[in-house]
Amino acid sequence: MSESVRVLFVCLGNICRSPSAEGVFRQLVSGQGMAEKVFIDSCGTADWHTGKAPDSRSIEAAARRGIDLSGLQARQIKPDDLDTFDYVLVMDRSNLADVRDIWRQNGGTEPQLLLEFGRSDELEVPDPYYGGEQGFEQVLDLIQEAGEGLLEDIRRRLA
Ligand code: 4NP
Repeated sequence: MSESVRVLFVCLGNICRSPSAEGVFRQLVSGQGMAEKVFIDSCGTADWHTGKAPDSRSIEAAARRGIDLSGLQARQIKPDDLDTFDYVLVMDRSNLADVRDIWRQNGGTEPQLLLEFGRSDELEVPDPYYGGEQGFEQVLDLIQEAGEGLLEDIRRRLA
């Protein structure tokens, strides 16, 4: 039996989708009284935004749902992450290809699409960066639904 689980969310820039996933999932996990059992982090495949806070549009969309992303700081994925996280959950197939390249070289936890834990046929969280506000709301909706399925999977793992 595992005592705790480590979850890493990965997107391209680590300023829109994966920090949103980090915040949404942390809220879900805390609401279920599991904050002590689940460690959550996020990162990007690119290093463009390292050290920066999430995109203001992501911060605002999350704040409307009572989630504070303002203290998060972007970082780039490192090979070691695949050794230290139990779930490596990417947002789209491009992220999947990039993280799989690291996985093939390094081994460790195989990355998978976050939305595999969701209920819809949609398997990618669309990149909202170049779009409007609605895209940021959709990101939160997709993540919320998949997060619920993910938490069920984690419960089984911890049982
Ligand atoms: P994210 O979105 O991968 O969800 O953080 C993006 C953020 C920044 C850029 C692209 C996508 N960018 O081109 O800088």
